[in-house]
Amino acid sequence: MSAKISIIGAGMTGATTAHWLAERELADLVLVDIVEGMPQGKALDLLQCMPVIGKDVAIVGSNDYAATKGSDIVIITAGVPRKPGMSREDLLTTNAQIVQTATENALKESPDAIFVILTNPLDTMAYLSMKVGKLPPQRVVGQAGILDSARMRAFVALETGVSVENIACYVLGGHGDEMVPLTRHSNIAGIPLRDYLPADKLAAIVERTRKGGGEIVSLLKTSAYYAPAVAVAQMAEAILKDKHLIVPASAYLQGEYGLKDIFFGVPVQLGRSGVERIIEYTLDAEEKAALEKSAAAVKESIQVLHNLVKI
Ligand code: APR
Repeated sequence: MSAKISIIGAGMTGATTAHWLAERELADLVLVDIVEGMPQGKALDLLQCMPVIGKDVAIVGSNDYAATKGSDIVIITAGVPRKPGMSREDLLTTNAQIVQTATENALKESPDAIFVILTNPLDTMAYLSMKVGKLPPQRVVGQAGILDSARMRAFVALETGVSVENIACYVLGGHGDEMVPLTRHSNIAGIPLRDYLPADKLAAIVERTRKGGGEIVSLLKTSAYYAPAVAVAQMAEAILKDKHLIVPASAYLQGEYGLKDIFFGVPVQLGRSGVERIIEYTLDAEEKAALEKSAAAVKESIQVLHNLVKI
């Protein structure tokens, strides 16, 4: 296959991302991890699925970045996941070092790659990757919005019994408990959610969406990985196929939404050059206030990063 995607971190999220990507037969895949033998073993296992599903995808695992040479997309999932009781911010110190190393090493092999970041705290890690790699903003994007919106869509489907295909939800802001589910823009087959659901039910869905990651951590004792991985696969597909797909994702803002020098969840258009465009919704006062609160949390996290790493 002509396209190549490398996934740095072959743990639960990384390997599951490879699984979803292989199903889509988009690109050859490389899994990289520091654990010896593990990415090689997982890659072989996945490779042996290909005859069954009838997809011609080359999948290799390695502990060496040389294998990633010439990648079109580099997906970074390397890092530690949450344990019960931890916030995503608690991961910052450990994961900053890992994401910095991963970005620098991957970039040496693939100077033109688009970087999709999944490691938490997501917005801060995407910021770090762009800064240490000295990458143009359109070539770095963080995955969070598709996942958070999918969680909301799933909860709306559970509540209403309507097909997930009819449910459009938009969750913006930082990928933390202050994220902003936009109930005014979200709808069921064009009917605003606010008109479809009683206020108390909608408020419960918003709250469950915000805590959606934590709900899984408390059950699973580690971070979610199926839905985060499929969300990143959708982003990689939009980029490689140059789909000009509008999705919520974490992008570098330079004045949009009144915010500067921050990665933040906003609607972006994804295509072959990465983030082609940032779309600005018209927001009411309540939505603006919620986004500002969320941005304050991300800014705080980025400040912590500045105290840790010289960027
Ligand atoms: N280089 C490459 N891989 C690394 C490095 C490194 N420097 N440091 C750690 N890793 C690998 C680990 O060996 C492990 O296999 O990253 C992998 C992480 O996998 P898991 O522990 O299974 O964690 P996962 O659930 O995949 O979460 C990874 O994604 O969604 C986020 O919050 C989550 O930050 C976490 C990240």
